[in-house]
Amino acid sequence: MKTRAPSSFPLSASTSLVPSTLGPSAFDQRTVNAETGLFAFDPGFSSTASYQSKITFIDGEKGILLHRGYPIEQLALKTNFTELTYLLLYGELPTQPQYQNFCANMAQHRLLNEQIRNFFNGFRRDTHPMAILCGTVSALSSFHKEAFDTSLFENRECAARQLIAKIPTIAAWAYKYTIGEPFIYPEEELSFSENILHMLFARPGRKETINPVLARAIDRILLLHADHEQNASSTAVRLVGSTGANPFACISAGIAALWGPAHGGANEAALDMFHQIGSKKNIPAFLEKVKNKNSGIRLMGFGHRIYRNVDPRAKLIQASCHEVIETLGLERDPMLDLAMELERIAKEDDYFISRKLYPNVDFYSGLILRALGIPTSMFTALFAIARTSGWASQWLEMTTDPNNRIMRPRQIYTGETFRNVVALKERPI
Ligand code: CMC
Repeated sequence: MKTRAPSSFPLSASTSLVPSTLGPSAFDQRTVNAETGLFAFDPGFSSTASYQSKITFIDGEKGILLHRGYPIEQLALKTNFTELTYLLLYGELPTQPQYQNFCANMAQHRLLNEQIRNFFNGFRRDTHPMAILCGTVSALSSFHKEAFDTSLFENRECAARQLIAKIPTIAAWAYKYTIGEPFIYPEEELSFSENILHMLFARPGRKETINPVLARAIDRILLLHADHEQNASSTAVRLVGSTGANPFACISAGIAALWGPAHGGANEAALDMFHQIGSKKNIPAFLEKVKNKNSGIRLMGFGHRIYRNVDPRAKLIQASCHEVIETLGLERDPMLDLAMELERIAKEDDYFISRKLYPNVDFYSGLILRALGIPTSMFTALFAIARTSGWASQWLEMTTDPNNRIMRPRQIYTGETFRNVVALKERPI
């Protein structure tokens, strides 16, 4: 359904509008291009809507995040990561029988083909788990050939479920490989987050009891990272998906995009930054470096392309952080105090105020993962485990979108204009 736009440049009477149910609508650039021959120049796509989607809505000015219409605060309080995954995939929260079937089916998919064990030996022991995740997820395509025929919903749905269920196993094995411990197989009777803890921390010959507080905290972190509309990694998944590539290759592209420090790698980078600052007394000097554009240093875990207000996930993560420390009776982490002081000072500084830079989800997520005993190298991999739900849901949505075409942006050429080739021997030395 399209309506006509007001007639002021670049909109004319014949420009179509693409309406939204919440947030800004868009003018249809295709009609502007057809009429004027002009492209839209939008580096970083900060003003371009590439898809219509029913999955996630963000109002960055007000700090609102909705999944399928439900506020993240309510989802965090009343559901778990597996229910949210079902919601993202299918559009509704599951009934109790649907939930039980879904959990049972996902638990069966956790196991990897035994041959996949061999892949790990090809990596150096000090490889980052994200590198192993990228490579191995793409290689899964050779074990699930049925996923190549994406014309059938059953194939697409099965691939989405396989990916969400298997990525924790690959990630946990990547960690075990880097520390030289034996791989721990997934357990069907454990919940999604319990199983992650089991595969990360159990050892053959040692019975591991999973602390339910820890499992709940991990589940909450996964829930808060599950989807975030058209971020860089989801866009990478959709871009690769638009070519018709198989879903394992698409998700592998998402993992690669997530790895960068401007995106999912920020949780690890924020913790490194807290280490570097070292103590509260060094905060002002560090912030001076951040504000000096020539230093190339950013305040990691601060700022967001969409949020110009506090990231609602950051508030929930911060609350979880305090909860976990109290419930587990952990000693208060001096790094948490440093982070809170850094946040306080930055929020009073005109540099950050004028640019509307607030803490994002990654400012506190590394601290809570650290408090839970998760190794730093696994922070971004956990983000990838969570985000696979969003990537898979967005990939599924894209495969039935009538507007889906191969993504192929245009450019503004700024190179040499036409010139003649001079043969090698005739060129000046
Ligand atoms: N520290 C210092 N200055 C910053 C920061 C920061 N973290 N973020 C933005 N700015 C400045 C930037 O230099 C620019 O200043 P000016 O207008 O004077 O040139 C202004 O704020 C606008 O920044 P931008 O780079 O145009 O903003 P963007 O929307 O392109 O970037 C971002 C968004 C998240 C990449 C950026 O804020 C950043 O690099 N943050 C640190 C990394 C981080 O925490 N990433 C996690 C994002 S949330 C989770 C996720 O998506 O994975």
